[in-house]
Amino acid sequence: MRKLTQGVYSVGAIDWDRRLFDELIPLPEGTSYNAYLVKGSERTALLDSVDPAKSSVLVDNLLRAGADTIDYVVAHHAEQDHSGAIADVLLLYPDAKVVTNPKCRAMLIDLLHIDEEKFVTVEDDATLSLGDKTLRFLYTPWVHWPETFCTYVQEDRILFSCDFFGSHLAASSLFVEDEAAVHRAAKRYYAEIMMPFRTSIRKNLEKIKSLEIDMIAPSHGPVYSRPSFIVRAYEDWVSDKLTNEVVLAYVSMHDSTRHMIEHFVAALIERGIGVRQFNLTVTDIGELAMSLVDAATVVLGSPTVLGGSHPRAAYAAILANALRPKTRFVSIIGSYGWGGRMVEQLTGLMPNIKAEVIEPVMAKGNPKEQDLAAVDNLAETILQKHRELKITD
Ligand code: FEO
Repeated sequence: MRKLTQGVYSVGAIDWDRRLFDELIPLPEGTSYNAYLVKGSERTALLDSVDPAKSSVLVDNLLRAGADTIDYVVAHHAEQDHSGAIADVLLLYPDAKVVTNPKCRAMLIDLLHIDEEKFVTVEDDATLSLGDKTLRFLYTPWVHWPETFCTYVQEDRILFSCDFFGSHLAASSLFVEDEAAVHRAAKRYYAEIMMPFRTSIRKNLEKIKSLEIDMIAPSHGPVYSRPSFIVRAYEDWVSDKLTNEVVLAYVSMHDSTRHMIEHFVAALIERGIGVRQFNLTVTDIGELAMSLVDAATVVLGSPTVLGGSHPRAAYAAILANALRPKTRFVSIIGSYGWGGRMVEQLTGLMPNIKAEVIEPVMAKGNPKEQDLAAVDNLAETILQKHRELKITD
């Protein structure tokens, strides 16, 4: 239990050991499930709960914070890492009401089977008085589910943003200490969770910019006592700004594709284009996702396996398609023994990426001189495309 300001406490849990989220997302630095207790002069609210695995930590912290009663449990988001311990809180505080919006209410009933009678629903911009503290609810849909919203405590000028602005970072400090480290963790989190909803996030950023905010308290990672730092970072990530970079995700079985990839990387570097190369047999997909936030071009490299792409390259294509990066150009470098439809398969797996497909380079067997010349030509085409976007300076 830690204090943000008078009457506002962090009562969630740090999960130092968790290494995978959604059975998909690597957590190299663990995470936290932040819940906050807001004690007004007349009523008390708990903002979110924690992952069910950490329910006992939340309960201990509530008792330590002297929460004799809880009148409201505000559920900003139905995903279970924040809502999963609400049932345990309701057992401990049976008179508490769950305050949420109608969409989240329906999801909480579906996911957690919470009794319908327990809910109070609130509209966008509604307020709820705790006495000397006022909760103002602001709908912020699609950060990153449709029901998500934030709470602004008017008197303390704190925005409780749930997943919005979060970072998967287990840390003993309540507030951000090392902005560079948190920037990296938050960018990774944005890439993995938020990037597909860039347009909605832009609108939500505009909405919160009308508030006077002294602190942003997210539901993962440390609290921002200098909120402009993370708001500006988000503005940058959701903007249309691109970097003069190629993200190159590849796999190779007998070095034919690898030979071309190495030639391609050298050709890009010679032309002053940044490269982020990922070997898909060992890569951390969170790092790959982060690299997609602002790179202008994505190139996949794959051998042909049983007539199609290597499954790891297909996985990267599916992942990129789901994350919907703002990349403007896509291409493929690959090899084959006797035929196949690898190019059609990979491009067909990325319908959500509204990018121009630059002519792929496919070599039969070990690449020959003309194949490497085609790789050079691909690098040159990318340079020209980046110049047209005026991102090469
Ligand atoms: Fe941290 Fe979308 O849950």
